[in-house]
Amino acid sequence: MSDPLVLGIETSCDETAAAVVGPGREVRSSVVASQVDVHARFGGVVPELAGRAHLELLVPVIAEALERAGADGHPPVGAVAATSGPGLMGSLLVGLSHAKALSMAWAVPFVGVNHLEGHLFASLLDHPDLEWPLVVLLVSGGHTMLVLVEGLGRYRLLGQTLDDAAGEAFDKVARFLGLGYPGGPAVDRVAAGGDSGAFAFPRAMAEKGYDFSFSGLKTAVVRAVEREPSASTPDVAASFQEAVVDVLVTKARRAVAATGSKGLCLAGGVAANSLLRARVEAACVEDEVAALVPSQAMCTDNAAMIAAAGQWRLAHGGPSSLDLGADPNLALALGAGTPGQ
Ligand code: KG4
Ligand code: ZN
Repeated sequence: MSDPLVLGIETSCDETAAAVVGPGREVRSSVVASQVDVHARFGGVVPELAGRAHLELLVPVIAEALERAGADGHPPVGAVAATSGPGLMGSLLVGLSHAKALSMAWAVPFVGVNHLEGHLFASLLDHPDLEWPLVVLLVSGGHTMLVLVEGLGRYRLLGQTLDDAAGEAFDKVARFLGLGYPGGPAVDRVAAGGDSGAFAFPRAMAEKGYDFSFSGLKTAVVRAVEREPSASTPDVAASFQEAVVDVLVTKARRAVAATGSKGLCLAGGVAANSLLRARVEAACVEDEVAALVPSQAMCTDNAAMIAAAGQWRLAHGGPSSLDLGADPNLALALGAGTPGQ
């Protein structure tokens, strides 16, 4: 039996997204409504406002995703998938409750998706011919992880951040430098005009392990600017970005070599960073492994990745119970890959 048409819903943070994915993980539509305008004047995501904005945006975003996909049957899709965690509680609940309601109204299966697994599936949508094992560097606003993917649903956590996530460090440094929100893209832009060798910021390599730490780097940036208030912002941004990317790429390369992986795959919002993308490409050419760098749209939050992960979970573990709750701290299910939802 071929995979059903799946409606994916993503509302874990500040993007309201819906998408339709068909058999063979074909993306029929992917609609993302960003809430940047809602949060920009506060310099970061305000959870209460995010939840309310999802409530307003979700129905029209789903309608547009269904229309663009030409999904106008009764029911329009064969299953509904939604992010159940991790993320902001109020935001997750909007998408999850809506997905359950649609599954009941249309009498089709509902499946809850782990947002992190969604990011792993995003790479599959751009690179359908992935070969295992593979190391994924998952770098987002809330997570920084090196994951060994031994096959679909079979994940081993090699390392993760001990304090700030890489995206969080970008956001905090951007805020400190007065570059606004969202911070990552702002630092990326400003750094393009700076000298990355201007400041020798620390690289927390934590010896030979695969864990990361970015809070010391953030503090070093603050100290440097306090010491030298006239420092060029592009130089500070470029030197900071260089330090983050250096650590991420050094550890990811080591992980690929140590596990005998066939490639290195980028995932999550920070994977949109231009320096990180360029360095991963270059490192993989040198190491003769595949570089799997998703399109910018597949790096940041979207619902196509949720629909794709949901389609796979549905085929391998069946539907989720309608009792499935939202879990702001949901961890990636590690190990043999028995779907546990
Ligand atoms: O995956 P994502 O969209 O949301 C979460 O699941 O967290 O990631 C958002 C994070 C933010 O911290 C944002 O600043 C960062 O990704 N980001 C970037 C860039 N674009 C987005 N960081 C560095 N350079 C970028 N170009
Ligand atoms: Zn994300």
